[in-house]
Amino acid sequence: MPSPEQIRDGQRAAWARLSTGWEKWDSIIMDQLGPAGTAMIERLDIAADQQHLDIASGTGEPGLSIARLAPKGRVVLTDLAAEMLDVAARRAAAQGVSNIETKVCSADELPFDDASFDSVSVRFGYMFFPDMAKATAEFARVLKPGGRLAASVWVSPDDNPWTSIAMQAITTEVELPPPAPDGPTMFRCAAPGYVSALYADAGLLDIAEWDVPLELVTDSPEQYWEMISEHVSLAVAALQQVDDKARERIRTHAIANVTAFEQGAKTRVPGLARCIVGTKRA
Ligand SMILES: C[S@@+](CC[C@H](N)C(=O)[O-])C[C@H]1O[C@@H](n2cnc3c(N)ncnc32)[C@H](O)[C@@H]1O
Repeated sequence: MPSPEQIRDGQRAAWARLSTGWEKWDSIIMDQLGPAGTAMIERLDIAADQQHLDIASGTGEPGLSIARLAPKGRVVLTDLAAEMLDVAARRAAAQGVSNIETKVCSADELPFDDASFDSVSVRFGYMFFPDMAKATAEFARVLKPGGRLAASVWVSPDDNPWTSIAMQAITTEVELPPPAPDGPTMFRCAAPGYVSALYADAGLLDIAEWDVPLELVTDSPEQYWEMISEHVSLAVAALQQVDDKARERIRTHAIANVTAFEQGAKTRVPGLARCIVGTKRA
């Protein structure tokens, strides 16, 4: 079982490498993940002067959308990987969003005072934290009384063909190790009630969770494979283990399987996220 420090180091290195792919495929990724961010934001009651903390912000969402809703407020974008936050800062500048700041830190050790934020968001970050209970206690600590926490995580692989198609193709050539229990993996928080229980243990109230359908839309099966192989952590790591010929066979396999999702001029592969919201006692 890797130590928390080893998990953090592994994640930091992995996401530093993935940042280029996330920036290259920004508009497709943001369109895909957008509905989860929108669903989270709807439950956060963002005021014009909101003080908001976005955790595992990556390339900036949903923090940048929240900053636009809070022109008199401030949004702090945080992430373990400086390279991801560099992309977030470039996106903020390109979008003319200036009421943000970035801070490199781990979700389970936040460099912020108690009760300093009105709301906290964590879009598709929870499953990568070394200690999710400690991280949730940190989110509750920095929230003001009555403040809200909203997160999203992935539901099961069967509900997410956008990634399971690629993984299935990869396993035809690469023997993937079984996920370490309590190690950082994409579907670690998939069980219904899993994140809600973390919220309850951290003392949050009015906890609710609900599922949000998403869709990965690309111009073609070929573009689907190109973007997946350049920004999904498990795919990028697995493809580094094989030679060019095996990579080509994996590509052919994935493209053949994803053609079932062609609709007119686009390839539309579904997915399912779960959102979870809770409130700190007033
Ligand atoms: C899937 S990306 C999500 C990015 C963004 N929130 C979004 O939805 O587009 C996951 C992010 O979690 C970050 N991460 C991983 N472990 C972390 C930790 N311990 N603390 C903070 N961020 C972490 C990664 O660096 C990465 O940017």
